[in-house]
Amino acid sequence: MVTSHEAIDARADAIRAQEVAAFEARTRASKTLYDRAETSMPFGVTSSFQAGDPYPIYLAEGHGSHVVDIDGNDYIDFHNGFGSMAVGHAHPKVTEAIIKTARSGTQFATTTETAVRFAEELKRRFNLEKIRFTNSGTESTMDAVRLGRAASGKDILLKIEGSYHGHHDAVMFSVVPSLDSGDGGERPWSVPFSKGIPPDTAKYTKIVPFNDIPALEQMLTDHGDEIGAMILEPVMMNIGIVLPKPGYLEAVRELCTKHNVVLIFDEVKTGVTIAAGGATEYFGVQPDLVCLAKSIGGGIPTGAFGGRADLMDEIEHGVAALGTFNGNPLSAAAGLAALTEVLTPDGYEHLRALGTRLATGCKEVLDRHGIPAVTTDLGCKGSITFRDKPLENYRDFKEVDGSLFEAYWYWVVNRGIYQTPGKEEQWTISVQHSEADIDRSIEVLAEYCEAINK
Ligand SMILES: Cc1ncc(COP(=O)(O)O)c(C=O)c1O
Repeated sequence: MVTSHEAIDARADAIRAQEVAAFEARTRASKTLYDRAETSMPFGVTSSFQAGDPYPIYLAEGHGSHVVDIDGNDYIDFHNGFGSMAVGHAHPKVTEAIIKTARSGTQFATTTETAVRFAEELKRRFNLEKIRFTNSGTESTMDAVRLGRAASGKDILLKIEGSYHGHHDAVMFSVVPSLDSGDGGERPWSVPFSKGIPPDTAKYTKIVPFNDIPALEQMLTDHGDEIGAMILEPVMMNIGIVLPKPGYLEAVRELCTKHNVVLIFDEVKTGVTIAAGGATEYFGVQPDLVCLAKSIGGGIPTGAFGGRADLMDEIEHGVAALGTFNGNPLSAAAGLAALTEVLTPDGYEHLRALGTRLATGCKEVLDRHGIPAVTTDLGCKGSITFRDKPLENYRDFKEVDGSLFEAYWYWVVNRGIYQTPGKEEQWTISVQHSEADIDRSIEVLAEYCEAINK
């Protein structure tokens, strides 16, 4: 068994080189399409998160728990559209709803009864009083932040170091910051994630570490009269998976109430995946506003935010919350079918059982082979983090072993397991996955661990 970190990384780097060569040999059509796509799209992709090294895999089809790339390679899909496909691909119930709507009109820019029913189902799940639909997670957090600032009458937004909440400017600070910024990198600082964000606007987004109540207390004592809203993912899912420490979310709730700060849960990833009512249900802590997107749409683009009626009613008193395609018939029908016919109590039981089978199976294999890693198990979401103890915040994430992850990614993809590219992501299981899919994934991990130890 290889024991030192250096030896493990050296072995991983060698495996990576061999697996990249195998990857290139089996994805020649992807390479050809990449060369063509690059001449019309930056990075040759439709969103920069899809970029790949040496090039992305281009998919052609998805059925159930499987996807097929344009070379004809078949994969069990644990990427699942960056967590937007908890229903799995081409689910018959969702497909039927889409086809029916396509035949009777997909967009009127007026509100349909289906949209009202969709809103009612989301309200029920997340214990919300009112909802406004959007078209993406970015729009949901953008509108919720604006509403929070307007309702509290205070302009500064508080966010967590290392969290991603979409690509509007207010939340594009300290997403993946280098630690030598600010005052020597000792404490979190507002670092823009993109060029083109006016540097002056950094003063409107302050940063605190996750899972650190004393730091939050200090920030609110010092700046509580300027901070209008706090946005966080109740479980961080932009750096693998980071669970809130026991009592953390409760204390955040209490401090936000005390300082008149609107508390926004970004449940774009956790909502309708880790439980029917997302993290709000799972942890039993009620924020003022919840942001949703991804899996609520059953594979059609949609988003929503909602919460306390007295806050949401600010939309009737001067807060803009707009969108031509908000709650359009197609997304409303697909989302409603997903939530009421597919992601049912039985569906969640299936996801829970498979998630635990995968997380415990992976952990057993990693431990048996002496690979320093932890796994997390949260409904259909879970992860392997190549670090010997669980993450508590972004700074811990800096210690995750990149070599072990990268070699692992090419290894599993070359053996028919489609995973999110990047150690910051996690798996998503769909209701159409089977025990055989899970077991195959564990088997491939075991082969990888054996190769590391050779
Ligand atoms: C937690 C979180 N919030 C917001 C977003 C933005 O969602 P979208 O890509 O739909 O704009 C994402 C996307 O990955 C996310 O993970």
